[in-house]
Amino acid sequence: MTFAELWRELEPIGRDPQTGGYRRYSWTPADAACRAWFTGQATKRGLTVETDNNGNLWARWGPKTAGAIATGSHLDSVPDGGAFDGPLGVVSALAAVDLLKEKTFSPERPVVLAAFTEEEGARFGVPCLGSRLLTGAVDPDVARVLTDDAGTTLADAMIAAGLDPGFLGPRDDLLDGIGAFVELHVEQGRALAPQGAALGLAEGIWPHGRWRFDFTGRADHAGTARLADRRDPMLPYAATALAARQAAADHGAVATFGKLIVEPNGTNAVPSAVRAWLDARAPDEATVADTVTAIRAAAEGLAEDHGITLSVRQESFTPLVRFDQALRDRIAAALAAAGIEAPVLPTAAGHDAGILATRIPTAMLFVRNPTGVSHSPAEHADLADCEAGVRALAAVLEDLAG
Ligand code: GLV
Ligand code: MN
Ligand code: MN
Repeated sequence: MTFAELWRELEPIGRDPQTGGYRRYSWTPADAACRAWFTGQATKRGLTVETDNNGNLWARWGPKTAGAIATGSHLDSVPDGGAFDGPLGVVSALAAVDLLKEKTFSPERPVVLAAFTEEEGARFGVPCLGSRLLTGAVDPDVARVLTDDAGTTLADAMIAAGLDPGFLGPRDDLLDGIGAFVELHVEQGRALAPQGAALGLAEGIWPHGRWRFDFTGRADHAGTARLADRRDPMLPYAATALAARQAAADHGAVATFGKLIVEPNGTNAVPSAVRAWLDARAPDEATVADTVTAIRAAAEGLAEDHGITLSVRQESFTPLVRFDQALRDRIAAALAAAGIEAPVLPTAAGHDAGILATRIPTAMLFVRNPTGVSHSPAEHADLADCEAGVRALAAVLEDLAG
């Protein structure tokens, strides 16, 4: 099948008709439909599909030896995410297998197509949860009790989806069988368009993390409670959001409060609590730490001024990632031999590739995003660039697995 044919099949799954954005949260019916689609496509191609103990999907092509070349990405989305972030890498992997089969290429090493669970952390809060569990970067006991906003634990969500959370945990045997991982992903940001390049190669990933800020005050009547008597957690939160913007600008970082839960969330009530999630990223770990320290200090001062209790907790952190230089050089050479130029770029976006890079040689291919917009229904990549991505991925797999 062509890339376009595959893309059209997956495109409607989990798309919200109002916003046009995707809500493919892990272990929901939309996620199950994406998984079923992937499994069906891989099976049709004669690949053997397996769901590992952490819910990641693996489809195998070729011999059953070690030194597999793995490729893929994720199928889950952020709230109202774009179509490309994640699925582009999975669909391109299937399309690349088709291209290679058309050429009657027969892999000497296994080619493994992967779809990782909960990459975005949109439901359970920890990004790259499937790959973190796989590598041992998250304790399974901690993972099992992660909860979504409705209070459902990961363990219960997995049970409802027919998986046993008792088996969560690292899989050295699986990782030991993989010689290299190459993730193709839509570019997030706009570095390729000005260079006139359809494709790029990742140099590394900025360190980044998530922190939860709980501002707790006292609910009261929006009409009758005197301003002087209120303990309104919205006020220190609002000032903290502005302080985060300033701290990011001061430090050369980025900091975002993108998720908020207000309790009880009534128009005519002073809130009792504001729970806010901070995402902070910077080129180096010290800068992330300094930025978060400044935001936290501002929040603590503001909370005190308003008679509010504040607690701050780190929910995840990903250190600086530098992708394997030798693998990148080899991929660049394979692409050059196929007439493809791919500039090397850093990124501030997180990826399963960044987690796997702690264990195996890993690389990333980016497909041009003409506007740079991502984590939005407006995210886009041109069909011609996606097709160029498939050809590039096929050339890379042919070189690495041939
Ligand atoms: C995932 O896309 C992230 O960077 O948060
Ligand atoms: Mn994403
Ligand atoms: Mn992604």
